[in-house]
Amino acid sequence: MNDTQQTDTLTSRSGPPLHGGVTVPGDKSISHRAIMLGALAEGETEVHHLLEGEDVLRTVAAFRHMGVRINRDGAGIYRIQGVGLDGLREPDDVLDMGNSGTAMRLLSGVLASQPFFSVLTGDDSLRKRPMKRIITPLAQMGARILSRDQGRAPLVIQGSTLIPIEYTLPVASAQVKSAVLLAALNTAGGGAVLEPEQSRDHTERMLSAFGAQVQRDGLRVTVDGWPDLVAQSVVVPGDISSAAFPLVAALLVPDSEVLLQGVGVNPTRTGLLELLTMMGATIEQRQPRQAGGEPIADLHVRHSPLRGIDVPPELIPRAIDEFPIFCVAAALAEGETRLSGAAELRVKESDRIHAMAVGLQALGVEVTELADGLHIIGRPEGLSGGVTVDSFTDHRIAMSLLVAGLRCREPVVVQRCANIQTSFPTFQSILSGLGAVLGA
Ligand code: S3P
Repeated sequence: MNDTQQTDTLTSRSGPPLHGGVTVPGDKSISHRAIMLGALAEGETEVHHLLEGEDVLRTVAAFRHMGVRINRDGAGIYRIQGVGLDGLREPDDVLDMGNSGTAMRLLSGVLASQPFFSVLTGDDSLRKRPMKRIITPLAQMGARILSRDQGRAPLVIQGSTLIPIEYTLPVASAQVKSAVLLAALNTAGGGAVLEPEQSRDHTERMLSAFGAQVQRDGLRVTVDGWPDLVAQSVVVPGDISSAAFPLVAALLVPDSEVLLQGVGVNPTRTGLLELLTMMGATIEQRQPRQAGGEPIADLHVRHSPLRGIDVPPELIPRAIDEFPIFCVAAALAEGETRLSGAAELRVKESDRIHAMAVGLQALGVEVTELADGLHIIGRPEGLSGGVTVDSFTDHRIAMSLLVAGLRCREPVVVQRCANIQTSFPTFQSILSGLGAVLGA
């Protein structure tokens, strides 16, 4: 069920303990990749539990514009009639990727080698985000990509024949790694990427599942060119980045106990679980199993008193999307939490360091904003609330501040929440179903 009536302003307040079992929507990163590889394979790929959030639906729409037939059946399964690496058609209009950095960056990698012209744009947030990080390696491969000043979208891509490179990433980024690997896929001789730290590896896993030759040697990933990609049946795991919100809510609200079913626990994504465990959280992984070439488990969470920590820098890439909600956990922990070395947070859907500093300060938390992180002094007794705060149109800031409201003395009103639809369309109904007092 979607929260179709979700308004742009939402309010949360303290209430009863959270109880129950829930299944969160499909993983956003894996959903994008399933559509892309399904389109580039030969034959019919079926995707179960695809995230039907706005970001992924932008990727679906883009491939439909390029002549790929993608249908959703009555059971919610997406069936993609793959056209092969050389079967895409020139889109007859601009491709609008909405709020989705993943869609824009990965698609640029696909389009760089296609023998046609394409233009990619996005919403206000996406048109501010750095695209030079993909233009630079793709240009080294021979791609012709034009952008606005400072490498901002819209991007204009005139596809061309590419040459193999080995690219050393300046920052850990799964999106940049994936853009290069997807371009290399359609390059005689393939290509390689060297990461400074391991970022999420869904592209590599899914490429292998579709029949590509992918080798990992430490932090170096190589893909061979021109594989025969074979259609697959993909089951998308629950998104740990969405599960993070009910999970932290259950940790923070006294007497709560929640079971999150079928959540992806790929080790490149579980940094938040490690950070929270260091803080004293009780989180149990039950029934570990596999889905779509990815590890999944049920996460059992109980309310736990938390204490502040220094975030180990090596955990940052594996928790990169979870820092807004992690900051809420820190705001309600005993003592100080220190995060640094996370400047990447400034170039996400919003400047997440600034957005969380401003939001938590408004709730009465003592926060110091650093160039590359935050220091937060926790208030385990609860926050003040009674204010209106801004999400900066960022889905994860909106959801984080709403979870914070569950531990405030007075209600918290969060403005500009519409983008919750990009990643977690059922956020409101799932949290309310667990007992949270959250609504328009
Ligand atoms: C993503 C990678 C991450 C993450 C984003 C999704 C992906 O970005 O923040 O939400 O699907 O590859 P970076 O690769 O830029 O760190």
